[in-house]
Amino acid sequence: MNQVVLSAKGITKHFGGVQALRGVDFDLKVGEIHALLGENGAGKSTLMNLMSGVHTPDQGEIFIDGKPARFHSPRDAQAAGIATIFQELDLVSSLSVAANLFLGRELVHPHGMLDGKAMLREARKRLEAIDRSIDPSQLVGELSIGQRQVVAIVKALSYASRALIMDEPTAALTVGEVDRLFDIMRGLASSGVGIVYISHRLEEVPQIAHRVTVMRDGKVAGVTEPNAPQAQLVQLLVGRPLNELYPPRSDRVGDVLLRMRQASFRPHRASPGWQAPSKIDLDVHRGEIVGLAGVMGAGRTELLSALYGTGVPGRWQGEVTIGGKPARLRSIAAARRAGLAFVTDDRRGAGLMLRMSVGLNLVMSIIRRISPNGLLSARRQDDAIKSSFGNFDIRPKNPEIAVGALSGGNQQKVVLAKEVLGNPSLLLLDEPTRGVDVGAKGEIYARLRKFASDGLGILVASSEMPELIGLCDRIVVLRNGCSVAEFSGGVSEHDVLAAANGREG
Ligand SMILES: Nc1ncnc2c1ncn2[C@@H]1O[C@H](COP(=O)(O)OP(=O)(O)OP(=O)(O)O)[C@@H](O)[C@H]1O
Ligand SMILES: [Mg+2]
Repeated sequence: MNQVVLSAKGITKHFGGVQALRGVDFDLKVGEIHALLGENGAGKSTLMNLMSGVHTPDQGEIFIDGKPARFHSPRDAQAAGIATIFQELDLVSSLSVAANLFLGRELVHPHGMLDGKAMLREARKRLEAIDRSIDPSQLVGELSIGQRQVVAIVKALSYASRALIMDEPTAALTVGEVDRLFDIMRGLASSGVGIVYISHRLEEVPQIAHRVTVMRDGKVAGVTEPNAPQAQLVQLLVGRPLNELYPPRSDRVGDVLLRMRQASFRPHRASPGWQAPSKIDLDVHRGEIVGLAGVMGAGRTELLSALYGTGVPGRWQGEVTIGGKPARLRSIAAARRAGLAFVTDDRRGAGLMLRMSVGLNLVMSIIRRISPNGLLSARRQDDAIKSSFGNFDIRPKNPEIAVGALSGGNQQKVVLAKEVLGNPSLLLLDEPTRGVDVGAKGEIYARLRKFASDGLGILVASSEMPELIGLCDRIVVLRNGCSVAEFSGGVSEHDVLAAANGREG
């Protein structure tokens, strides 16, 4: 029997009126990879935040090596050898990758000056273990979400001498990065570090975990083996069996809505690390859900944001038409006028105002459109909020709560709800279900399919291959900014990956 390195006993925690944890016991053994699963809002991040010194429990205690531990800040936990990759990454955007990695423990010359060269060299070496494309001298603010996730992982790895807590580290990683991360985790575990692994990607669990704890409603619903049948995990997770995750595809599509032929985006200024869309051939019809696949850095986010006018400044060349008319997509306002809406993969950066209430975040997005003077009748606001809560099952069901106090997955539902309120005709989605639990995912897929059958066109980028294959009518693969292959829905994962990586199928 392995020794326990980190444990929690009888933990309760509430935030205002919300009881986030109700008597939770949890333990992590030396050298163990322990998956922690549960619905959005089940209390996973709260439990981990207590173990990493962000919050203190109302009741109960945390133990390290069997001795009570009192953490007053994340630094205390770090000093005890517990490293955490937080769900919402705690990196400093205005600093370089290397500076983030060495923040608070900079390398210095013998005479006390900062040794920038050594830090760059060391940073490059550590990053290469997962992703070669990241330049350590780049500002974190210029990196994609997936690249930021890699930086946060690399940073945490260097602190993790006893335990590593990973709160959805793979939510924006593609298959290749996930594989490399798993190798690193296995190595770390076999050297004796205990790892808590939170994920909504259930297919990862048997690949990586030694043991599984499932939480529901602030309690532990069960502890089980990682190779338990997925249906059983889902039953534990959501408390009921789930039907088919993906809705049936439509057999009818309408007119072409977005048409791109040899379309290339030319940035006004060179922008390192920004993969400009190039020679894109792509159609999205009304009633159709089209997927964008590709490895990290293939240019999926760049394509969507260049269409929506939020990428780097520049202009499109080649053919880009929307509804048969040449599209002039120079600004967000122009894109919105053309009927586009965009759900960004960066919900913290561009998607949400965290300190404002859920209700305000929802109505803000439509106020200007409906009412030029910024006024919107209370009734119309109420209707908008009600339909959002109805469409996307945002929890808790209270529009007065600050968005920042929602769990990660519920914040994601608000981002989605907010964009569809404007009645777009073409919906651009970047990682729409990032951090969303399996039950809520099914509801979102059904909702998207319904929007499509009502005549919307949907273009969706996702790093989750099963999602692309299960949800989409067609999948377009990007590589180095170019569209290189197209498949119909239901294609094999192997074929899409081969095209994404530039290998023969
Ligand atoms: N700082 C906070 N202030 C107020 N309420 C909070 C805060 N943090 C969490 N909560 C609430 O506590 C409950 C548990 O949230 P938690 O973030 O732990 O869920 P989770 O299991 O991590 O979900 P997800 O899978 O969506 O990330 C939720 O109801 C959430 O709204
Ligand atoms: Mg969470």
